Amino acid sequence: MHPSRPNRLVEYLDERIRVRSLMQFLLAEPMPGGARWAYIFGSMVLFSLIIQFVTGVMLAFDYGGTPDHAWDSVNYIDHLKYGTLPVGRLIRGFHYWGASVMVILVGIHLLQVFIWGAYKRPREVMWLVGVVLLALTMVAAFTGYLLPWDERAYWGTIVGTNMMGIIPVVGPVIKSAIRGGTGLGALTLSHFFAIHTMVLPSLFIGFFALHMVIFRRVGPAGPFRGSPSELEEKKEYFYPRQVLMDSLGMLFIFILVATLAVLFPPGLEAMANPANSSYSPTPAWYFDWIFELLKMIRPEIAGVLGVPLIVGILLVVWPFFDKSPERSPYKRPVVVSTILLSLGLIIVLSLEAEAGYKPMVALDRTAMARGKIVFDHSGCMGCHMVDGKGGKVGPDLSEEGLVGHSEHWLKVQFVNSKAHFPQSPMPDFTFLKPEQIHDLAQYVSSLGRAGWPDPTAPTP
Ligand code: HEC
Repeated sequence: MHPSRPNRLVEYLDERIRVRSLMQFLLAEPMPGGARWAYIFGSMVLFSLIIQFVTGVMLAFDYGGTPDHAWDSVNYIDHLKYGTLPVGRLIRGFHYWGASVMVILVGIHLLQVFIWGAYKRPREVMWLVGVVLLALTMVAAFTGYLLPWDERAYWGTIVGTNMMGIIPVVGPVIKSAIRGGTGLGALTLSHFFAIHTMVLPSLFIGFFALHMVIFRRVGPAGPFRGSPSELEEKKEYFYPRQVLMDSLGMLFIFILVATLAVLFPPGLEAMANPANSSYSPTPAWYFDWIFELLKMIRPEIAGVLGVPLIVGILLVVWPFFDKSPERSPYKRPVVVSTILLSLGLIIVLSLEAEAGYKPMVALDRTAMARGKIVFDHSGCMGCHMVDGKGGKVGPDLSEEGLVGHSEHWLKVQFVNSKAHFPQSPMPDFTFLKPEQIHDLAQYVSSLGRAGWPDPTAPTP
């Protein structure tokens, strides 16, 4: 009998590149305890990364990474059609939503490893490589945010880089190295473009390969329950069931990203205008919680803490402190509840931030100016200091815009201070008209923010 065509191809390749043992190596990975849905997240993360690579390369064909071309080229991509199919917008949508989906998947993957104690001996090094991959994901998200060069991109990055600048001693150096100077301009864009499209992809490939090599050496952690003999009994190989589960997971991710890209194409705001200091910046949603935390503990202190730095250090040292071999989440209540509480905190802070952005999306310059007049004529200065002038009964309001109160909170504060502070000596300004209250809220929430976040940096 003649071997069928595909078999002849396999024969041919096997003789030359020993493809059979390669397939054997890739597919016959033993899974202690058998195939599981819980194992699909790693593959889904990889798949979302592949989406980013493919769509990223496609975008790079038409993107121009200089301030005079970036916005135009993204605008061009948004209008690029083959026939009636808006390919440009779709590809950009895939890349945009792919990033968010990837951040979420990485989060789930991390959470899973944490809760199941899969970072424990002998997988500490694999965990560390995972932490590097997490950091790369965050840097990719951060650098990608600037590339469209619209108002949101520009001001979001101004805030982000300023936050790095607050870190003591090294902060200013990091900030100007990243920006390529004191201000944010052409050099910043080309730095971010090079990091995003050249440095990160190579690092991603390298560290991902390392993650996999280590994975194949130490093997999957397997379920936390069950004796070695039980696990051995239920053992399966990667192929076929796990391959099928992973493929379905990836298909789900593809459908999810495609749906988001079609239904919610990413917008493009007006071209970045460095002179528009009344623009109220918002970071990408996955950084929201950090900014919310910064608002709560005031930037100066938070700068010392350097939230992401602290989180990163914690992740790096974690497996070296939590060394007990126990992996069951039910027997590690302290660790598991700490993780769940932090997750809860991150979610609450993120929702809080999103809610806070809405009422204050854009500061209206004329309303701010009218609000200042109301402020000056209502006796606020008797108790509050603004930029060194005024009384000391109440808190200094020079940076009130950074505290992050919503418009609603401020309006309540003006007419019913006791609602927030039962002992408040602040009078109820019920005689003010609703328009005046509105203008006053605009003014107060602009304080410290009009030139925010960096009044000292020269505009590029
Ligand atoms: C009699 C003094 C007094 C006057 C007048 C006054 N305030 Fe206050 N205000 C306070 C004090 C004290 C607080 C601190 C909280 C408390 O105990 O009520 C405060 C708190 C605030 C806060 C909240 C600060 C924060 O983030 O916690 C805002 C905003 C504010 N005042 C705005 C105004 C504005 C606007 C006016 C003028 C319309 C005004 N205040 C007039 C005394 C005063």
